Amino acid sequence: MFDVYPINDINIVKARGSYVWDEKGIEYLDMYGGHAVISIGHTHPYWVKKIEEQLEQIAFYSNSVKIPIQQKLADKLGEVSGKKNYQLFLCNSGAEANENALKLASFYNGRKKIISFSKAFHGRTSLAVAATDNPSIVAPVNETDNVVFLPFNDEKALQKYFDDKGDEVSTVIIEGIQGVGGINVATDSFLKLIRNLCNQYNAVFIADSVQCGYGRSGKFYSHDYAGVDADIYTMAKGMGNGFPVAGISIAPHIHSKHFMLGTTFGGNHLACAAALAVLEVIDVENLMANAEETGNYLFEEIKKITELKNLRGKGLMIGFDVPPELKDLKKNLLMKHHIFTGEAKPNVIRLLPSLALTKVDADKFLNALRGEVAALTKKYAEADVS
Ligand SMILES: Cc1ncc(COP(=O)(O)O)c(C=O)c1O
Repeated sequence: MFDVYPINDINIVKARGSYVWDEKGIEYLDMYGGHAVISIGHTHPYWVKKIEEQLEQIAFYSNSVKIPIQQKLADKLGEVSGKKNYQLFLCNSGAEANENALKLASFYNGRKKIISFSKAFHGRTSLAVAATDNPSIVAPVNETDNVVFLPFNDEKALQKYFDDKGDEVSTVIIEGIQGVGGINVATDSFLKLIRNLCNQYNAVFIADSVQCGYGRSGKFYSHDYAGVDADIYTMAKGMGNGFPVAGISIAPHIHSKHFMLGTTFGGNHLACAAALAVLEVIDVENLMANAEETGNYLFEEIKKITELKNLRGKGLMIGFDVPPELKDLKKNLLMKHHIFTGEAKPNVIRLLPSLALTKVDADKFLNALRGEVAALTKKYAEADVS
């Protein structure tokens, strides 16, 4: 294997709901959702059934023929997301979704400049990585003057850029809640300003919802909290609950032309069956409401643990800073308490569990968290005295 991932020495062989099991039969609570991918719960029986049924019929045929399940998926997405008149283009990953969105925006207004923000993460392919604020993953060939980074949530800087160069701007791309950047919530007034400036200058507002979308925040798109509609929403992770599928949802004023976008695998029968099952479960099981309710509960309880700093997030996308004396917290939660959590460099713990997380599961996590914070704090105090 090409060694690009620092991995935990754990072999997960089985999964169900918010739990996974390793080859020794050890059970783990998954507060990481396999990196925000598990939306309706691991191996949800309805999702398994629908994929199996589809597999028995046909798994793949190219986009050169009618694939009616694509329209079914588009209709259901319109219904559950509340953007009924938006158009759907299907692809395979978050980076690809952003790549297509940025390209489509440039086709639409014929311009080149992309505004992105500090700590943004939009993927690892050419334009997506160029719009990502992490020079260490940008190869020389990806470097471009077409992307400008402005400070996140800084309305003055954004206004000034548009005042100076608004006619050159093709796109503003922003995560409603930054994930890899450490759970930073875009303010409602910042998102409203983006909407107004994009309207004024005919620029395209791209809402990267790859991590913060699909109900994770308690609303379908976290940008919805600001009461604004983006021109393009990009989505992946939670869309297939682990089946690789992604898409972009496009406002009606952006028109398609044959061959302007395309993909071999995007929108295949099997991926659509998985994605449709996810939306049906989100709908029937009221998972957005659960994300909001269980997320609020977690948030309020974590707030009481005063050793943890700068608690932030919405729904089941929560982050907090871990002070240096608690630096072993994430490792101990995994190795001692068998709980997976996410992280963001340098010292953030990210919670991205299944949207079906129950209060019982939340309490299990909270008990471990309280216990471990207390144990590490005590250990630190004792070491300090001696
Ligand atoms: C906000 C955001 N955009 C895009 C991506 C890229 O998605 P993928 O890894 O599926 O290409 C990610 C992945 O973490 C993400 O968090």
